[in-house]
Amino acid sequence: MLTTILAIAASYALGSVSFSILIARYFKGIDIRHHGSGNAGATNTLRVLGKGPGIAVFVLDILKGVAAVWIGRLAAPDVDWLPAVCALAVIAGHNWPIFFRFKGGKGIATMIGAMASLAFLPSLYAGIIAIALVAITRYVSLGSLIFALLTPLSIYLLIGIGPIFWTAAVLCVFAFVRHRSNLVKLFKGTENKLGSKKP
Ligand code: G3P
Repeated sequence: MLTTILAIAASYALGSVSFSILIARYFKGIDIRHHGSGNAGATNTLRVLGKGPGIAVFVLDILKGVAAVWIGRLAAPDVDWLPAVCALAVIAGHNWPIFFRFKGGKGIATMIGAMASLAFLPSLYAGIIAIALVAITRYVSLGSLIFALLTPLSIYLLIGIGPIFWTAAVLCVFAFVRHRSNLVKLFKGTENKLGSKKP
């Protein structure tokens, strides 16, 4: 029981390590949350700091999700739901980080890493559609929301209902909650496009 609790706490703490905030702070001396869209994530890092830092944050945020699932798997191999709960915890940490006054990112890159580790094929199918949508519209937020919606749907269709499905469903709710301002801008037609510097 203690190992299980520690694994969940460790995943939340790992998620709370915001690479976007750290890279912006230590390489540029700025708080990324006061620039661009104000989001502590890969898209805003790309927008504010450029390609290198943006890609670095994207990869590191994905790896946080992968690592949390493995923390769950290795900490208590007999507890089959633990990797899924660790996935929830790492994304909760990313979105509401204890080390940065609970103001973090929107959780999509970390969700990609966690869900690809829990359910590779369903995540891949959802990811392909999301990437195609971003390529066509250049709205990263739209692709993020479609990924968040399609992941539980494809898990339901390919695997069925269980801890992994419920994790993806909760992460979908997290994604919509964190993208409220993006949704408003998408409906108004004022959402920022990939490659544009405007917040
Ligand atoms: O995953 C974040 C992305 O969907 C939107 O980021 O900075 O445009 O709000 P941003």
